[in-house]
Amino acid sequence: MSDIKQTKIRVISGVRPTGPLHLGNYFGAIKGYLELQDNPDYDCLYFVADLHGITSPYNPQQYPDQIKEIALEYLACGLNPHKSHLFIQSLVPQHLELAYLLATIYPVSRLEQLPTYKEKKQTQPEYVNLGLLYYPILMAADILLYEAELVPVGKDQLPHLEVSREIARKFNKMFGQTLKEPQAYLTAMPSLPSLTGEGKMSKSNSESYLNLLDDEVTIRKKIAKVPTDSGCGKQCPKEGGVAALLALVELFEGKQQREQYEKDYTTKGLNYQHLKEQLAHTIFLQIKPIQEKRRYYEVHFDEVVNILLEGQQYAQKIANRVLKGVKDKMGLRLP
Ligand code: ADP
Ligand code: TRP
Repeated sequence: MSDIKQTKIRVISGVRPTGPLHLGNYFGAIKGYLELQDNPDYDCLYFVADLHGITSPYNPQQYPDQIKEIALEYLACGLNPHKSHLFIQSLVPQHLELAYLLATIYPVSRLEQLPTYKEKKQTQPEYVNLGLLYYPILMAADILLYEAELVPVGKDQLPHLEVSREIARKFNKMFGQTLKEPQAYLTAMPSLPSLTGEGKMSKSNSESYLNLLDDEVTIRKKIAKVPTDSGCGKQCPKEGGVAALLALVELFEGKQQREQYEKDYTTKGLNYQHLKEQLAHTIFLQIKPIQEKRRYYEVHFDEVVNILLEGQQYAQKIANRVLKGVKDKMGLRLP
């Protein structure tokens, strides 16, 4: 895949290499990546957001392995190098250049109000760096640099996407029509609940998630810990641990099985032990092929390096063209 397909609708997204992918990442983001790559009308680029990852505390010795891990898992999940372009964000420095240019037209006060920034100030008070504030600007650059129209992400990323849209509109108003206003692409599960029963599944709470690489024993243990209730009542809970279990039942065992459990809840009572054991087993069976495919790519890492190199070259061609257009419009050229 070397030609740039300008007639196609461009798609872009990325994940921070802050740890292995969990089921929330899979159903909220990667599933969207896969749906879009299968549509021949779309030109898809997916990257490892390593520049975003370093805005939270991290270990530079381990970081290269974490970057590699996301690349392996992208491919293991089914991202197909014949359909999509994969690359590592920091190897396309045009992202940083465009981010700086866009930063000059966006007010600091708006960034300070974003829920993700406020949350990080609470969760990492010892690491409130400028990169954290700049995060949505870099994300806008990631998207606008490719004239992307669709961005598959989970629900928590919508405020960031709104910033990207706003920046595109403002840029066009100030300098003339240049940038495309992107839209989010949400999957059927844009926010998978946490196993703790509170909030969403997230890498920041190890009790909250199941990883795609978990073995069956780990899955059983984690599912066994999900808080439940007496198992009967007038209506099945819409929140908490029971709701999280039923969301997973629907994803892995189908809507019919979920409806059956909901019926049991209001009639004979729901047997959580049975539900949990069957669910854990089914989850493991369904993620096992991903784990096997990841092992293949780990052994054949030279293939992965070539895929990333092709992706980087492809991305750079588009990036250079768009960046030149932006600089021209901003007056960054000789007369
Ligand atoms: P985390 O929030 O666990 O640190 P990331 O921020 O790296 O994960 O998210 C990578 C992608 O996965 C983003 O598009 C994000 O919206 C999506 N995502 C993360 N958690 C969930 C979830 N629980 N449900 C649905 N999508 C999610
Ligand atoms: N902020 C996203 C997350 O936490 C990762 C990301 C960085 C991204 N740049 C992006 C997602 C551009 C979509 C498009 O998951």
